[in-house]
Amino acid sequence: MEFNYLDNFICLFLEQQSLVSAFKEHDPQAKDVIALPTPITQLIPPIEPLGVFESCFPLKNGTPRQGILAPDSQGKLRIRPYRNTRPADVLEGLEQYSHVWIVFWFHGNFNKHCRAKVAPPRLNGDTVGVLATRSPHRLVPIGMTAAKLLRIENGDTLVLGGIDLIDGTPVLDVKPYVPKYDSIPDAKYPDWIVVENQFKEVIFTDRAKEQLQDLSSNLKILKDYDQALSTIRQALILDPRSVYRKQKFEKEAFGFHIDSLNIQCFIEDNVATIYNIEPGDQESDTQPEDVGVARETKQ
Ligand SMILES: C[S@@+](CC[C@H](N)C(=O)[O-])C[C@H]1O[C@@H](n2cnc3c(N)ncnc32)[C@H](O)[C@@H]1O
Repeated sequence: MEFNYLDNFICLFLEQQSLVSAFKEHDPQAKDVIALPTPITQLIPPIEPLGVFESCFPLKNGTPRQGILAPDSQGKLRIRPYRNTRPADVLEGLEQYSHVWIVFWFHGNFNKHCRAKVAPPRLNGDTVGVLATRSPHRLVPIGMTAAKLLRIENGDTLVLGGIDLIDGTPVLDVKPYVPKYDSIPDAKYPDWIVVENQFKEVIFTDRAKEQLQDLSSNLKILKDYDQALSTIRQALILDPRSVYRKQKFEKEAFGFHIDSLNIQCFIEDNVATIYNIEPGDQESDTQPEDVGVARETKQ
C-alpha cells in the first residue's frame, strides 16, 4: 500500500477534525474551530537516544562498509535508564537472541547539502539515488546494522560483534533480529551491490606484529592481540579508502585507526602491507571539511 505525503496530510486533517467534533459534542456552546494539520516537521517529537555506542572504530576512515564484513570487530552499548525505566527490565529476554538490529543516527555527517544521488565506490564513479544505497550520507541520516549479541554485561551493557558504527554514535533503538521476518533469501538486488572491492592479501611485517604485540595490553574495546590482528585484517582487506583517495593518492601510504591503534600501510599490486602500528592519537574525522565527499560516499 502506498502512503504518501498527501495521504498523511489528509489523515492528520481528518484526525484533527474528529477531535474538534468530539470537543464540540462535549461542549455544544463551543465555537467552530478551524484545525490546521500539523506541519510535517512537527510530526516527530525530539528523540532521546538509548545510549552512546563505544566502538573499536574511533573514526569513519577505516570503518567497514557493513559490520558483517568485519565479524571480529567489537563495540558496546550501555543502555541508560530511559525516563523511568531500569535497563535490566528493558533488556530482559534479549539474551535469547544471537543477533540484534542497532538503529542509529549518523552523527558524524556534517554535510550541509542534501544530495539526491551518491556515487558508491563499487559503481566506479556512476551515481544512483541515495535511497537505493546504504550510504551514510542520507536525507534522514538513520543507519541500521544487524550485529552479533556476544553477551549482556552488568544488566545494562550489550557487547556486540560485527559492527560498522563509529565511537560515539547515538543509538536510537535495538530490536531482536528474527530470521523469519528479517531475512528474505530470494530478495532481488542490483549486481553492483555484490561487487567486492578488495585487496588480494593483507600482510603484517614482523615489525608491525611486534608493535601490535607490545600495544595489545592498552586495547580499549578489543580484548587481545589475536582479535586486534583479525579485526585490522578484516577492515583493511575490503579496501576502506574512498574513491577520492584511491584516485588522488593511490601510491601514498594509507593510515587508519582501530581501537587505540594508529595503523599505516602501503598498497602495491593490490596487496596491502602494514608496516607500522603505533598508539593512536586520532583527531576526529567528523569535522565539516571531510564531508564534501558525499559523491564518493561509502555504501
Ligand atoms: C555504509 S554505512 C552502513 C551503515 C549501516 N549498516 C546501514 O546500512 O545503515 C557504514 C559507514 O558509515 C560510517 N559511519 C558509521 N558510523 C557513523 C556515524 N555515527 N556518523 C557518520 N558516519 C558513520 C562509517 O564510515 C561506515 O563505514
